[in-house]
Amino acid sequence: MRGITAMTLQSPGFGGAGVLDHNVSDLVVEEPGRFRVHSDVYVRPDIFALEMSRIFETSWVFVAHESMVPNPGDYCTGAIGRQPVIISRDDHGEVHVLFNRCAHRGSVVCRDERGHAATFRCPYHGWMYRNDGTLIGAAQRSGYPKDFDTWGLRLGAVPNVETYRGLIFANIAPDCEPLSERLGGVRRYVDAWCDRAPDGEVTVPIGAHRYDYPGNWKLQMENGVDGYHGNYVHESYANILERSGERKAADISRARNRVGAKNYAKGLPHGDGLLERADGMLGTYDTKSNPEYRQQIADAYGDERMEEVLTQRNIFIFPNLYLFESHIRVIRPVEVDKTYVDVYPTTLVGASDEFNRDRLTEHQRFFGPASFGQPDDIEIFVCAQTGVNVGATPWMELSRGLAREEVNEYGESVGHSTDENPQRSIYREWRKRMLNEAVKA
Ligand code: FES
Ligand SMILES: [Fe+2]
Repeated sequence: MRGITAMTLQSPGFGGAGVLDHNVSDLVVEEPGRFRVHSDVYVRPDIFALEMSRIFETSWVFVAHESMVPNPGDYCTGAIGRQPVIISRDDHGEVHVLFNRCAHRGSVVCRDERGHAATFRCPYHGWMYRNDGTLIGAAQRSGYPKDFDTWGLRLGAVPNVETYRGLIFANIAPDCEPLSERLGGVRRYVDAWCDRAPDGEVTVPIGAHRYDYPGNWKLQMENGVDGYHGNYVHESYANILERSGERKAADISRARNRVGAKNYAKGLPHGDGLLERADGMLGTYDTKSNPEYRQQIADAYGDERMEEVLTQRNIFIFPNLYLFESHIRVIRPVEVDKTYVDVYPTTLVGASDEFNRDRLTEHQRFFGPASFGQPDDIEIFVCAQTGVNVGATPWMELSRGLAREEVNEYGESVGHSTDENPQRSIYREWRKRMLNEAVKA
């Protein structure tokens, strides 16, 4: 927390008369049958700054997949909130998450997304670091005093780094719960996601495709588990599929609206959530067309487990990670109204090359930079970010399905896939963290 408290946040006054000075506790309002979020959460720079310190700097944040740094000397770069980091595997095979900030005058020392190197050389004045963060030496050393070597300069190390099923998380807070405790109930969905690989291992064999949009990071957070928008935002894609004779648009819509089947939106503890559809989702390769693959999964895990594993899900792990069937998606907040999203297509170890190719082709068709799906979502983020500047009507309704929200034995709030249970879980957690309640508990 840096010089700002939840109780002293003030509206900067955009939106004109009628905008109230809300403190954080007033921005998420839960009443019987109604759940509202104030638009200030998308537009106020002071709230954004508080999110960086109270959410990103005190949470387990996803930084990379192990397959992105498989060998000693491999590295990739990422971010924790707005703080750039390097994920490196040192010569002994240990993974480090280092702040990408030179000890001299603050430049990033590594500008590449991914690579292999024993050392990093700062591009500004040439200071050199080992891939474990140790300072090897300052360029033109003679300009520094004799005791320079004892100053303890190095690349800072993020104190907590843990991995679950290949997913590397880091936490800046010195005292934090173990990763397994934080993940809790979402682990069984991560397991199912990994077990879609016959060998139980997902890999990120290539780089990312990235998009950015002039909007708040939470728009992407809410959208990946939003089962309500498909019939509208993705109507054009459904129509294309119909025109090409592949699927009928009405069937796609019917599957989304189906009641009484495995067709859920779930809000999990800790702000996690998922969309879960046995009938599939647009952009996801339909495994029913590949009996050999299904047999591999049945052989590896048994028939009952196969059904669980092959249920299609978009899994969100608060605050920055999505596991889609075809890819890992990482949300990177930049400014209150600017966000980067990194999309890492995956392959499934043990599946045939043909299967992985077809799966990626389907991914490209819906999620790729020139695809029929994702660009429509991004356009909607811009629509939302523009609209929320209207100060006279500042509330957003996230009440869909609240009256029928049920909590199951895992503590999951379960609703129809078009309900807003995941979004409510996100904002319950957001509110708790922004008020520092999670930290105090
Ligand atoms: S800022 Fe890195 S060497 Fe000067
Ligand atoms: Fe979408």
